[in-house]
Amino acid sequence: MQKLIINGGNKLNGEIRIQGAKNAALPIMAAAVLCGEKVVLHNCPKISDVYSAMRILTYLGCKASFDGNVAVINSENITCSAVSEELMREMRSSIFFLGAVLGRTGKCRLSLPGGCDLGPRPIDIHISALRKMGVHIKEEYGELDCSVEKGLNGAKIALSFPSVGATENIILAAVLAKGTTVISNAAREPEIIDLAEFLNKCGAKIHGAGGSRITIIGVKKLSGCEYKIMPDRIACATYLACTASAGGELVVTDCRPTDMESILPVFEQMGCLVHTLDDRIFFSAKYPLRAVAPIRTMVYPGFPTDAQAFVMAALCRAKGTSVFVENIFENRYKHVGGLTRMGADILIEGKVAVIEGTAKLYGVKTEAPDLRGGAGLVTAALAAEGTSEISAIHHIDRGYVEIENVLSSVGADIKRI
Ligand code: EPZ
Repeated sequence: MQKLIINGGNKLNGEIRIQGAKNAALPIMAAAVLCGEKVVLHNCPKISDVYSAMRILTYLGCKASFDGNVAVINSENITCSAVSEELMREMRSSIFFLGAVLGRTGKCRLSLPGGCDLGPRPIDIHISALRKMGVHIKEEYGELDCSVEKGLNGAKIALSFPSVGATENIILAAVLAKGTTVISNAAREPEIIDLAEFLNKCGAKIHGAGGSRITIIGVKKLSGCEYKIMPDRIACATYLACTASAGGELVVTDCRPTDMESILPVFEQMGCLVHTLDDRIFFSAKYPLRAVAPIRTMVYPGFPTDAQAFVMAALCRAKGTSVFVENIFENRYKHVGGLTRMGADILIEGKVAVIEGTAKLYGVKTEAPDLRGGAGLVTAALAAEGTSEISAIHHIDRGYVEIENVLSSVGADIKRI
């Protein structure tokens, strides 16, 4: 079992290039199933969730491989329309293969993605939407058995909640459907725009992605294409939080500040200097950090739930009281135990977390509870006095490319054993 060993206290100084976005790469890799031709994805992050998606693609009969930092996928021969249970268990978010495999083959069998560390993670919104498009779905023994006798039909679908995954699944099922699909109350995350731009480059007709009303006009066939995945706004926010926590100055390149308009002001409230220019951010931490006004996690363009853990970690030593309200997932404070053991003063009351800034944090042995919670523990460990040992870092590797190399390249004392 690998661990990260972090000796806190070093300021961060230097330049980081931001990886491609995990939450854009995954639905775009599923979308490649619809093309039936070769797809070349530039800036595709080499993270374990992407390797899991590649294993699913291979299982379906696609050819999928990395050529340097470029993922190459050819879905000419789809030989299977089921996703095995262990592959589904590997990555909860593989649920959007359902829409892609249905769109391509007209049937799909996969096991229900297990509830994961963020709560039950239901897929009721996905299911009710696909049924409206004519999919016959049988749920039994933890499996979903889906088929469309006469092909998918476009439909008008109003989402009860702007679910990111459900919006993506509907788009994937709708691009080759008969007729037009209109999604209202759609999720507006930038990763959905990236998926739509990729599919439109393959010949799809998707309008309105990024807004809450998306129209997809079904087409007969898609071609392959070459596409560059957007930068990862959450990974970018993570490294800014690490710098705020440890102190220092960071230049971030290949990022997209316009995706981060609800995150960057929070760092400015903390007292950090944030200058943005096209695809760069110049960031300087001013110590001591100040506590910030209450942060409510919201769907895009609100403050993202994915940034809650590591922004909280940076605030553990800020002067004053900060408050978070986690509105998206019901169990997304699993990193608080580790932070408290480091000396943080955090009170959890249901969805609300109250953080009293403390002078010091101390290095401890702890383990990553989930992907962003693990990033939060790393963020705090960089500022803690002494040595921290973080285990279960497979969670962190799901979404960050070589986090220890990125951080040590700007001065952190961190290594993987
Ligand atoms: C996506 O998950 C992201 N994952 C998550 O990032 C992110 O936290 C989340 O969107 C919110 O932004 C990927 O894109 C691969 P949702 P997803 O459907 O699609 C409830 C990370 O850290 N819900 O918008 O699963 C659900 O339980 C990951 O990179 C239903 O009730 O998020 C949750 O409470 C973690 N029924 C809320 O909606 C449904 O059918 C948001 O879920 C679907 C969702």
